[in-house]
Amino acid sequence: MSKIIRITSVKGGVGKSTVAAFMAKYLSERGNVLVIDLDNLGHLSSLIEILRLKDVEARRELGDLDKLRKMSGYDYVIIDDPDLLKVIEDPSQDIINVVISDVLALASTLKYLDKIGGVKALIVNMVPPLPADFSKIIKAVRELNVDLKAVIPFIPKIFSLLVRQDSKTELPIVKRLAIAIENNEFNGEVITR
Ligand SMILES: Nc1ncnc2c1ncn2[C@@H]1O[C@H](COP(=O)(O)OP(=O)(O)O)[C@@H](O)[C@H]1O
Ligand SMILES: [Mg+2]
Repeated sequence: MSKIIRITSVKGGVGKSTVAAFMAKYLSERGNVLVIDLDNLGHLSSLIEILRLKDVEARRELGDLDKLRKMSGYDYVIIDDPDLLKVIEDPSQDIINVVISDVLALASTLKYLDKIGGVKALIVNMVPPLPADFSKIIKAVRELNVDLKAVIPFIPKIFSLLVRQDSKTELPIVKRLAIAIENNEFNGEVITR
């Protein structure tokens, strides 16, 4: 059985494809990874190439998830899905829904979280790395009733990854997140570094 991780958001440009790519990088150190890039921009597929993730297979169509889960031979399937509201229609209880927001969209994102069941993880991304702003967001996130949370600062070298094409770029917070998901550590912890 593969673990299916679906990365989604209320608004675009919040880091879905970036987090999905690094999640693929770190999980591919532990098992076979398939990424499914459902965004027309194909940003995730480019990032898989930039990070030189040769062992990660990439597709652009969802196909039959249940078949994939049961018979694919992949340990992890990571879906980059711009359509958050599909969560409501998904009958499967096994999908690990990861919702990403930036600071601006956080209030609206939280309203959606109340409506959608099965959200396992919330990431607040691109938080201004000023200490006062960062701690304020961590404090707010800590109080949320979500199984796993992460706060990622705005990191200039991540922002310019498509320009620099540096295959050695790392995103340690996503590594910790990947390990927590792999170990089913859904205990309300906030990952911040
Ligand atoms: N933590 C971060 N710090 C700085 N830039 C980031 C961060 N996360 C994502 N980005 C940048 O923000 C832009 C949008 O990210 P992307 O992953 O394409 O978002 P989405 O897939 O949600 O549309 C990209 O240029 C990406 O490099
Ligand atoms: Mg994207």
